[in-house]
Formats: sequence, C-alpha cells, structure tokens
Amino acid sequence: MTTSTPVLHINGLTKHYGGVRALSEANFVLQNGEHAAIVGDNGAGKSTFVRLITGVEQPSAGSIALDGKPVSFSSPLNAREQGIETVYQTLALAEDLDVPANIFLGREITRFNLGPLSVLNHRAMREQSIDMLAKTGVNIQDMTESLRGMSGGQRQCVAIARAAGFAKKLIILDEPTAALGVQETAKVEDIIKGLKQRGVPLIIISHNLRQVFDLVDRIWVFRQGRIICHRRTSETNPQEIVGLITGAIDPASLQSEEAVAC
Ligand SMILES: Nc1ncnc2c1ncn2[C@@H]1O[C@H](COP(=O)(O)OP(=O)(O)OP(=O)(O)O)[C@@H](O)[C@H]1O
Ligand SMILES: [Mg+2]
Repeated sequence: MTTSTPVLHINGLTKHYGGVRALSEANFVLQNGEHAAIVGDNGAGKSTFVRLITGVEQPSAGSIALDGKPVSFSSPLNAREQGIETVYQTLALAEDLDVPANIFLGREITRFNLGPLSVLNHRAMREQSIDMLAKTGVNIQDMTESLRGMSGGQRQCVAIARAAGFAKKLIILDEPTAALGVQETAKVEDIIKGLKQRGVPLIIISHNLRQVFDLVDRIWVFRQGRIICHRRTSETNPQEIVGLITGAIDPASLQSEEAVAC
C-alpha cells in the first residue's frame, strides 16, 4: 500500500446488536482513486459495515477518518454532506418525478427561497443533470419522462450518475446489479469503469466474483463479522477468494504482504 493519506481509514469498527456481534474490530483502508470490493457470505457483516460508514447506524466502537480527519455520521444525510454517496440495491428514487427532479431530490436548486416562498430553478437543475449524466456516460433520451417508464438498469444508471455528481469523497454501491439483467449489468459496469478512469474512489458490495475481478483493485473478505483479509485483485484469483469466504483457506496461510496486514 502507498503511504499517502487514504480517503477512508477505518479502525476497530464494531457493532453489537444486544448479544449479537454483527461486526468486530474491522480495519479498512481505501486509497485515493481506488476501487475496492467487499465480499463475504450471507450474514458476514457487509451490510452492517456499510450502514456504519453511511450514517444509517452508529458504531458500538471504532473510528472513521475521511482524508485523515476523524468523522462521525449522525444520519445518512450527514454522511452525504461529508462526502459519502451511497447507491442501494433497492433504489431511493421517486417514480413519478423526472430525471432532474430525482437527481436533485432533497438538494433542489431554488431561484429564491423565502421560507415557504421558494421557487425551484428547473432550468439549472435540468442543465446540471444533463452535465452529470454526460460525465458519467449515461444516455437518457427524454429528460422530462418520469422514472416510471424506465427499466431497472436505466434507473440504476441515474442513481449512480447522481452519486457521482455529488460525491465529494467516495461512492458506495451496495449490490448495484443484483436485480439487473445481463445487458443492464454490463452498462452499470461500464459506468463504474468510467468512474475509475475519473479517479472517483468507490466501494462495491457484490456476490458476483466475475464482476469483482473485472472491476476492482482490491478485495476485502468478510467472514463471521470480521474482515479476515484483503487481497490485491491482480495477486489473487476467484478460487482463493472463495476459499477465504468459506473458511477453506486460512488467511494466515497466505504468504504475502497483504495477508500479514490482515
Ligand atoms: N438489526 C439487527 N439486529 C440483530 N442482528 C442483526 C441486525 N442486523 C444484522 N444482524 C446480524 O448481524 C450479522 C451480520 O449481518 P449483515 O446484514 O451485516 O450481513 P451481510 O454480510 O450483509 O449478509 P448478506 O450477504 O446476507 O446481505 C448477521 O448475523 C445478522 O443476523
Ligand atoms: Mg447484506
């Protein structure tokens, strides 16, 4: 790993639900411009980890630093304000609104704002939306169409373009293609590759190892509520990752700098 200040540095992150240890002492690092995957079996603690670093829940212990500065997130909105954008498998988009209204949902641009007397600046939101979509490589024919008429893949592309447009630090994608078909998945993966080229740091949770090996620089393996290992994608293979996920391979047996750091 390089010695520059990581964009995200997590130390000892822990979450108990009563007697259940959903996550224990998780250490995690994301370097600037890096794309990382989180993998692990059902119940391994992946979603718990994401909920803690996106302000959905508060940790029982541990610390989070963004660009070297300690942070805490009181709510998902607060995490967004501090630069972390998240795209969920189940989309937080409004079906009856058009694309610009969805992109600016909760962050509307107003022409003037005097308490209840606020007038939305539709033109500015439309122009900025076109810009965000173009930058992310998303092609939407009709910006005035409501999302109701769009496929799951198109909606997911809008959600990722929105995240990319607003993310000041990093983007988290929680199983972004789990509900998509083959072609739609390919489109979303192209968009993720474009974000890599633009240097936008990203974390993806995925059960799809083909996708993980295609997209990311580093793979973090969760098992039974712990981060047991991280491997540079170029220095591992799907069989090894499956072995680590299932417990067939002991991370301590891996003779590399990465394994020692686990
Ligand atoms: N709100 C909760 N209350 C009690 N236990 C919980 C809660 N949320 C998660 N857990 C437990 O914590 C552990 C980790 O769950 P988590 O949802 O983080 O797993 P996951 O890796 O995301 O799994 P999946 O791949 O199935 O989404 C599980 O044993 C789960 O039952
Ligand atoms: Mg989960």
